[in-house]
Amino acid sequence: MRAVDTIRKKRDGIALQRDEIASFVSGVVDGSVADYQASAFLMAVVWRGMTDEETAWLTEAMVASGERVDLGPCAPRAVDKHSTGGVGDKTSLVVAPVVAACGGVVPMMSGRGLGHTGGTLDKLEAIPGLRTDLDLAAFRRVVQAVGCAIVGQTASIVPADRVLYALRDVTATVDSVPLIVASILSKKIAEGTRGLVLDVKTGRGAFMADERGARRLAAALVSHGLRSGLAVEALVSAMDVPLGRAVGNALEVAEAIEVLRGGGPDDVVELCDHLAARMLVVAGLADDEAGALAGARAARTSGRGLEVFGRMVEAQGGDPRVVEQPRRLPAAAHRELVVGSRSGVVQAIDAVRIGLASVALGAGRERAGDAVDPAAGVVLLKRPGDPVAGADPVLELHFNDRARRDVAWPLATGAVDVADEAAASRPLILDRLDAARVAAATEE
Ligand code: URA
Repeated sequence: MRAVDTIRKKRDGIALQRDEIASFVSGVVDGSVADYQASAFLMAVVWRGMTDEETAWLTEAMVASGERVDLGPCAPRAVDKHSTGGVGDKTSLVVAPVVAACGGVVPMMSGRGLGHTGGTLDKLEAIPGLRTDLDLAAFRRVVQAVGCAIVGQTASIVPADRVLYALRDVTATVDSVPLIVASILSKKIAEGTRGLVLDVKTGRGAFMADERGARRLAAALVSHGLRSGLAVEALVSAMDVPLGRAVGNALEVAEAIEVLRGGGPDDVVELCDHLAARMLVVAGLADDEAGALAGARAARTSGRGLEVFGRMVEAQGGDPRVVEQPRRLPAAAHRELVVGSRSGVVQAIDAVRIGLASVALGAGRERAGDAVDPAAGVVLLKRPGDPVAGADPVLELHFNDRARRDVAWPLATGAVDVADEAAASRPLILDRLDAARVAAATEE
């Protein structure tokens, strides 16, 4: 089967067959399909789309391109959570141990910061000694012993995505629903999870800013996840304002620990409790929302989730003393306050500007492969709806490098909008799409 024929068919809007997709994907991995051919194919998919069958076959072929983790006796309780990316989103650090404390098993393969959004691996690696580059055997061991592990994708998991995602990133072919669905689901299926709760973000700080697009993506992820045999549902949540007060790696770990101690900002708590509760329902560990929420809250506020977090940190080589003494996390040499532009009420805090300011301070990467500064970041001293009087500080910048501070400063100072009155805000959790909702939408 020649790659050029598959590309031509897709270019001309003719649906591909299962063996054509399988052959193309295996060619991407073994090098017989050149990067320029894969890029042409990706662009043809962006323009022509894919049928549901083609998307399912692409997902299947991508899973088959690498290894698949077998969690053995833990597999029936395995459940993961995936977010499409936001600013200040430290929920994975909370929900993985909380769900494990409730009897779930969480084999989480996460990513690094991308653009203005943060990445769970960068956050966890702020803990001294902690490794996220475990091989599959070590990953399986930690998951089985502790109940959860958070690691990076290994080279043997969905190698096709590694090649295709890198090409999509540089050929303007990221935002295609079938390509996103196949990319996300193939990795989740290969990591060995049976259940999956997706957090599809929408709003200024999200990669799907438009709510209709986010709902469409959520519905496609749920319907294809179900088709692939996963128990899956999706929350659609607002990402207009950074989540919580801390943005930056060590700062976010400290805030996650606060949440695991029963405290922390209300929005982080609300999203963590709902995500963990839905994971328990999806994994069959709770019968209904009310019971699941009560279980998740109890695990979070009783310290059971924190205890599991400490064991996970230790099993991944990190210093577990950070759990009791978060001051052991890296701290920046300098802090500087940003004051409000006027007196009034905070109306909005631009998640993109805060995310970019945090990256500029060193918490993220300008280029793939750059080192990150675990201590750098931004703390929100005010949230939307809070009053600001005179020269009240609204943000605190944490940095080690003054040149970086100078780049971040204009981004941060323009991020907080103070007005006479607070703007009406929308709920944090906008919707939940499950099998029944997706089936009903298909019948309409
Ligand atoms: N995250 C992924 O893993 N893949 C995509 O295509 C988009 C977001």
